[in-house]
Amino acid sequence: MQAPPKQKGPIGERTMTLKAVPFFTQLNDQELDVVRSVASEKTYPKNAVVLTEGEAGDSLFMIQTGKVKVFIGDEDGREIILKILGPGSFFGEMSMIDKQPRSASVTTLETSTFLVLQHNAFEKCVEAAPRIAQMVMQVLAQRVREADRKIGTLALMDVYGRVASTLLELAVYNNGKLMVGEKLSQQDLANMVGASREMVNRILKDLSERGFISVESKSITIINRELPPSL
Ligand code: CMP
Repeated sequence: MQAPPKQKGPIGERTMTLKAVPFFTQLNDQELDVVRSVASEKTYPKNAVVLTEGEAGDSLFMIQTGKVKVFIGDEDGREIILKILGPGSFFGEMSMIDKQPRSASVTTLETSTFLVLQHNAFEKCVEAAPRIAQMVMQVLAQRVREADRKIGTLALMDVYGRVASTLLELAVYNNGKLMVGEKLSQQDLANMVGASREMVNRILKDLSERGFISVESKSITIINRELPPSL
């Protein structure tokens, strides 16, 4: 599954890509220079393992292009998807900060290019641009909020409600239609809500028959956003 990452791109080229990453648009050219000079670029093919839960590691990965899924799993191969991340997001900051093993696994959902900062490099960036630390803290706070919401959903809602709230969470407007932004398989959705694929299939069918959503191949459109929280 995993192929060795490719290192590429001279520093000049990296300036452009860095500027395209929303996380860095807040930094000025001088601050960006520091990040560029200490980061390395790596490209992974689709379905490659970038980080493995429980392993040691001290690098932060910033996504320039592509998409990854963050998940935790067990020995039987069951997994819970914690989050899907795209360009401008980063991951791997937890082990880089607290030096504990990776809290989750990360694999690519498509070919993805990352800027990678080792702990020392990150410290250099923060010295040169303390705002970076503030930006990372903001994202961490946001993730704790999301995790709190997710705990609430898992503990207080039944599977029907969890599917409904996950669909709404992932929904974005596209040409005037409210659509689930990710092309998710029913298994992916099941792994996000902690249910079986069969159960998710039944719920999607029910929502579709009741006119709340329409499903075409892997594309889900929300027709009525007042999705019912239960059957
Ligand atoms: P780290 O523990 O170093 O490696 C796995 C990474 O997955 C972790 O850092 C975070 O960057 C990311 N991660 C873990 N939990 C979540 C979450 N709930 N939402 C988004 N990203 C997460």
